Amino acid sequence: MEIHELARENRSIRRFRQEISISERDLLRFIDSARLAPCGANLQLLRFTPVTEKKHCSRIFPALKWAGYLEDWNGPEEGERPPAYIIIHAPIAGRRHIPVDSGIAAAYIALAARESGYGSCMIMSFDENLIEEAAGTPQGYHPFLIIALGMPGEKIVLEKADGSIRYYRDAKDRHHVPKLALQEIIVPVKD
Ligand SMILES: Cc1cc2nc3c(=O)[nH]c(=O)nc-3n(C[C@H](O)[C@H](O)[C@H](O)COP(=O)(O)O)c2cc1C
Repeated sequence: MEIHELARENRSIRRFRQEISISERDLLRFIDSARLAPCGANLQLLRFTPVTEKKHCSRIFPALKWAGYLEDWNGPEEGERPPAYIIIHAPIAGRRHIPVDSGIAAAYIALAARESGYGSCMIMSFDENLIEEAAGTPQGYHPFLIIALGMPGEKIVLEKADGSIRYYRDAKDRHHVPKLALQEIIVPVKD
């Protein structure tokens, strides 16, 4: 898939086909793309935990907070929960590169997964203690970003933002994501 099309297709998915698993081999392939990503000073400080087993997934799920704008929705129901996760661990004594490195790594993972037909959602709102316990975070690290992965169970409507950037669900329960237009994010260089 050409990169712009991949970017267009790569929406945050929060409802999955839970019965379709992803192999650990696939997750390792996505992490291998993140391994090759740029990072500050080439320090390669991030560590990654692939999670595919049901018993592990069910320990991670309760720690996650889904879709803050959707006040009436408590996250995916049983049957539509993610069948896999990748947890990104970052050093606690973090350098200022860490959030950037993590975002780039997560984007590489999400795009690699999308290219293979999977969907994903990056999650930064979670109970750190629960995740640390479930994931076996290495000494001196903390879980920084989680990527939920699986076969998409929903189709997202990408649309031009018209006064609001809040994502929402319509009467048919379809998830809409408003994006600003290109001209709205361009700052012309000073003459
Ligand atoms: C750094 C970061 C943190 C995020 N944290 C969460 C989260 O905790 N829970 C969640 O449901 N979605 C989370 N998201 C997903 C965003 O809500 C989503 O990217 C945004 O609504 C735009 O939708 P799109 O990804 O389809 O463009 C996060 C995304 C990013 C990049």
